[in-house]
Amino acid sequence: MFNRSKSKKGRRSPMATVSLIVVGLMTTGGAYALFSSSANADDSTSTVAASSQSKVNEGQKLFASNCATCHGLSAQGTSEGPSLIGVGAASVDFQVGTGRMPMAAQGPQAEEKPAQFTDEQVDALAEYVASLGPGPSVPSSSLTDGKDGDAAEGAELFRINCAMCHNVAGAGGALTEGKYAPNLQSVSGKHIYEAMVTGPQNMPVFNDLNLTPQQKADIITYLKYVQDNKSPGGFALGSLGPVAEGLFIWIFGLGAVVAMTVWLTAKSN
Ligand code: HEC
Ligand code: HEC
Repeated sequence: MFNRSKSKKGRRSPMATVSLIVVGLMTTGGAYALFSSSANADDSTSTVAASSQSKVNEGQKLFASNCATCHGLSAQGTSEGPSLIGVGAASVDFQVGTGRMPMAAQGPQAEEKPAQFTDEQVDALAEYVASLGPGPSVPSSSLTDGKDGDAAEGAELFRINCAMCHNVAGAGGALTEGKYAPNLQSVSGKHIYEAMVTGPQNMPVFNDLNLTPQQKADIITYLKYVQDNKSPGGFALGSLGPVAEGLFIWIFGLGAVVAMTVWLTAKSN
């Protein structure tokens, strides 16, 4: 009863009270959001800095115990392995992520093996090497997931720039002195990009002037298409093209006809 009579007699209309409350809430909310986001920003930059420093330290430890015998304690290079100063995070991510490094045995080419480090450890090694000198960094996933590129454009670029070593369908091929360009049927988009920017072994480097990031993404889209649509069936015959297919028919097809003829004539005699 008391409340009701009081509100009836109030100086302000109910609408004014409501809008006052709304304005009040909005200013305190806004101020809080501003304050907390600036506090968060401070927080995240300092944790990023701290975490990347501790990553570099972790990478240095891993490096000392797994890589230094060949690459030197500060990655300066030895007679057993090249200097890694300036090769960049991309090179380490590629070499260690595909299991090529740590190299197991001296040979014409570092062999691919199951990767020996976790993703975090590969990251740490990459950050450590990147901290020694500027080099290509690990590409962002939007360029390497194979979703944004143009497969037809990529097929053309692949034919011009890569097929002479890797074969038109990415089946791989032999090079001189026991080296080879590997089959690209199961390699990830990230490692394809990193191979292009770092040029492992006998492979040339395709920097952003040779092939723009978008063109690299197109090539990845094409290779992903080939990987997902392997062979429509039958014998692929090494994907060498019409010559190999014609030869196959000549040798096996005609051979079968001749064998059949011989068998038939032998029977009738
Ligand atoms: C047994 C010796 C050996 C060990 C151990 C070794 N490497 Fe290597 N590494 C080599 C040789 C030799 C090459 C150059 C030949 C090649 O690329 O196949 C090389 C090349 C590399 C490259 C490419 C450099 C470039 O020019 O792009 C990177 C990156 C690399 N190693 C990182 C590592 C890391 C990281 C480790 C430790 C996890 C490691 N290596 C362990 C011998 C070794
Ligand atoms: C002159 C020959 C040559 C050309 C041209 C070439 N590559 Fe390579 N590629 C190689 C060799 C050799 C290796 C193996 C390097 C090693 O094992 O250290 C390789 C490795 C790779 C790998 C790593 C495969 C894996 O299984 O880890 C990828 C991906 C790749 N090449 C993609 C390409 C693309 C894409 C192009 C064209 C833009 C290209 N290559 C052009 C010779 C070549």
